[in-house]
Amino acid sequence: MFTIDKNTFNEEETIHLGREFAAQLRPTDIVAIYGDLGSGKTEFVKGICDFFKVEEIVTSPTFTIVNKYNGIKDQETFAIYHIDLYRIEKDSELLEIGFEEYLSDSTAISLIEWAEKTTLLPEKIFSINIFLDDANDNQRLISIKSHREINIRM
Ligand SMILES: Nc1ncnc2c1ncn2[C@@H]1O[C@H](COP(=O)(O)OP(=O)(O)OP(=O)(O)O)[C@@H](O)[C@H]1O
Ligand SMILES: [Mg+2]
Repeated sequence: MFTIDKNTFNEEETIHLGREFAAQLRPTDIVAIYGDLGSGKTEFVKGICDFFKVEEIVTSPTFTIVNKYNGIKDQETFAIYHIDLYRIEKDSELLEIGFEEYLSDSTAISLIEWAEKTTLLPEKIFSINIFLDDANDNQRLISIKSHREINIRM
């Protein structure tokens, strides 16, 4: 397991970290994102999507559960599933909406907010933990754990 910890001090820096992280991703990758309400999970996702030139507006799919965006890498288009499990209470709800098909889509990248709401995630995923700071409203500790070695220039 590889861990990279970074502090960010405003939303732009979190977006930038998302962008730098995205450079390490490839289709089939799954990114589980953990952190309190308003911690910055969606800002981090915005950075990932920006790296892949997503043109759709990126917001938490709290009610629709899944947003599908078109990402571009090396001139190829692929799907990015942005999934928000905040309102999910049990795995059976996810099975009904085809969650496992999203995760096993070998051409897509899945980004999952509130990933702690499910037990259906495979072992080899990236985990992003975002921690608020008691003393500073705009500071975040962002801890990236990965099953393969990655490099982040930041
Ligand atoms: N360092 C920072 N990184 C990210 N966001 C920050 C930071 N400092 C302040 N913010 C603010 O915190 C908020 C983060 O909102 P965001 O929607 O990304 O949270 P979230 O974790 O996705 O919440 P939810 O669980 O409701 O989906 C934004 O309003 C952003 O401007
Ligand atoms: Mg969000």
